[in-house]
Amino acid sequence: MAGFTFSLEPRLMAVAQEIRAPTHADIGADHALLPRYLLLSGRVERAIVVEKNKGPWENSRRALAGLNAEVRLGDGLSVLQAGEADSLSLCGMGARLMVRILSAHPARLPPRLVLQPNDSPEPLRRWALSAGFALQNEQMVEGFWRYGILTLQRGVCTAYAGLPLEPALRYGPLLLKAQHPLLRTHLQERQRYMQKLAPVEKVRAELEVLEQALELFGA
Ligand SMILES: C[S@@+](CC[C@H](N)C(=O)[O-])C[C@H]1O[C@@H](n2cnc3c(N)ncnc32)[C@H](O)[C@@H]1O
Repeated sequence: MAGFTFSLEPRLMAVAQEIRAPTHADIGADHALLPRYLLLSGRVERAIVVEKNKGPWENSRRALAGLNAEVRLGDGLSVLQAGEADSLSLCGMGARLMVRILSAHPARLPPRLVLQPNDSPEPLRRWALSAGFALQNEQMVEGFWRYGILTLQRGVCTAYAGLPLEPALRYGPLLLKAQHPLLRTHLQERQRYMQKLAPVEKVRAELEVLEQALELFGA
């Protein structure tokens, strides 16, 4: 679109870079900044936006007025039909809530998913393996928190080959293979924090996995 200068905060920009599709669905859009950007930048032709709550649904309707977007009030994929969207995003929620949303209607999932949880993506990595989605890209971005962003494509996942499974599921096989500098910082900070805690079983178990991950950085 001519004169388009609209920008996004880094986590949503990282998500947007993974999306280019005729029709994209964004679940839990609230202010709808992501689908608005996708439409105005031409990355998608049409957006389907789903909101569970009335206030955010109204926010989305206002943000997308006049654009090629449909804003639906409903719970996750309950208001999306199979084959309607080419890709789907879920951003800014807890990973466990995302897993519940993704698991509720497996036949309605499009082949490409971009997921930005506000906490550890581990439950999403475990879900993706069991649901037949391959990790195509992993990003880590600084913002209010440190965000992991997963891009998944339906298919067989080879991302874990050659890695110890537990650290890879927890911290990300592609981030570990890429020796991502922000992940290294994250692991070192977490290790320093965990080492100050009483060494109960849970703490020891996390430290063990964390140290396996750090070993992959040669640390
Ligand atoms: C914190 S906001 C995130 C907004 C935006 N996606 C972002 O990342 O900035 C989460 C939104 O998800 C919506 N939401 C939560 N559960 C949902 C569900 N099951 N179906 C649709 N929307 C949901 C909430 O109403 C809320 O507006």
